[in-house]
Amino acid sequence: MEKLKIAGGYPLKGTVRISGAKNSAVALIPATILAESPVTIEGLPNISDVEILKDLLEEIGGKVTITDDEMTVDPSTMISMPLPNGKVKKLRASYYLMGAMLGRFKKAVIGLPGGCHLGPRPIDQHIKGFEALGAQITNEQGAIYLRADELRGARIYLDVVSVGATINIMLAAVRAKGRTIIENAAKEPEIIDVATLLTNMGAKIKGAGTDVIRIDGVDSLHGCRHTIIPDRIEAGTYLILGAAMGEGVLIDNVIPQHLESLIAKLREMGVTVETGDDQVFVSGTDKLKTVDIKTLVYPGFPTDLQQPFTSLLTRATGSSVVTDTIYGARFKHIDELRRMNANIKVEGRSAIINGPVQLQGAKVKASDLRAGAALVIAGLMAEGITEVTGLEHIDRGYSNLVEKLNGLGATVWREALTKEEVEQMKNT
Ligand code: EPU
Repeated sequence: MEKLKIAGGYPLKGTVRISGAKNSAVALIPATILAESPVTIEGLPNISDVEILKDLLEEIGGKVTITDDEMTVDPSTMISMPLPNGKVKKLRASYYLMGAMLGRFKKAVIGLPGGCHLGPRPIDQHIKGFEALGAQITNEQGAIYLRADELRGARIYLDVVSVGATINIMLAAVRAKGRTIIENAAKEPEIIDVATLLTNMGAKIKGAGTDVIRIDGVDSLHGCRHTIIPDRIEAGTYLILGAAMGEGVLIDNVIPQHLESLIAKLREMGVTVETGDDQVFVSGTDKLKTVDIKTLVYPGFPTDLQQPFTSLLTRATGSSVVTDTIYGARFKHIDELRRMNANIKVEGRSAIINGPVQLQGAKVKASDLRAGAALVIAGLMAEGITEVTGLEHIDRGYSNLVEKLNGLGATVWREALTKEEVEQMKNT
């Protein structure tokens, strides 16, 4: 086990290239199950979630090869192997195996997904969608059993706008008989990316990226080649970092339109942000103004950037309020930021940040992926050395983090935990 050590307080400058989107990758990889010949996905991020999904596809008989950032999956030899335990529990996105296996084999057994602990994360809308398509579903000892004699298209209204449910229903519906209409669908760019892959595989999907998606089921899907979209949350994390410590940071391989809500908020704070076709330039300022943010579904301010943004707000003059309407309990990073001298109160779904404060290096623990990003940003802003543990969370979503940060002039390195630290981790 390792920790990340950060020597804080140094200005950052240079170019950082953004990797493929984690939240697309974790859906695109299961989507390959639906094809009957090899699918190649280009531009995958170097993250542990991708590794785990590769192992899961191999467990069900797929042949998977990875070269650099490209994965080829030959799904022709796959079988509907039950996956009630083991690696499925390691990531939340393993729920996409339900939709993909149901679509291809009309049956699946998948252990209830793990992932970041952000408060309750039900999957009732996924289940409602599968049932509407004709699946019988039971929950036995922590695993979901899905079976259908036949999948039939249906009209499905989502009671909650859900990225996962929208994609999962799409995965099953592309192989259902007849037309499926998903109403009140989520509109995140990752949904368009998955629909693009499925369309290249021969699926008939209209309206991805709007709140009504129409899918006409087909009998079979074939292999294809697909390039993943850039990770807007990784890009947003570097934008926030550039605003906090940047003396001119160029973020390359990004779709600026995916980051409009964040860019608007940074500009309100007085940060210089310039956008190009596939690049964003950011430069910080000594005098940051406060802003309030409220997380919303896309194109609103993303909940996944709420935690990193909070670290930046500790440097703004006055009081800012961050409200998370998607995950009301996504505040585990706050106690850790307080250890670093931040002045933050949590009231219900909101965090109230008073600044400016000079953060101080400390030993802190990442409780989830974006909490980890918040602590890394805070460490780079802080005086002295910060040690971040819980790297398994950060490794799930940030490709080549140490190399990318050091490429911008940061001093960041990984070190093995001492025996005492390992013992301490076990006891907390
Ligand atoms: N919800 C329900 N029932 C459902 C599904 C969702 O009540 O059946 C609720 C959730 O509890 C939440 C809201 O609806 O309050 C939105 O959840 P959504 O289903 O959209 O989230 P998700 O698909 O599980 C994805 C990302 C998350 C990101 C959210 C919101 C993946 C693998 N995960 O999760 O990413 O926070 O959308 O944008 O795509 C991250 O990257 O750090 C991360 C947690």
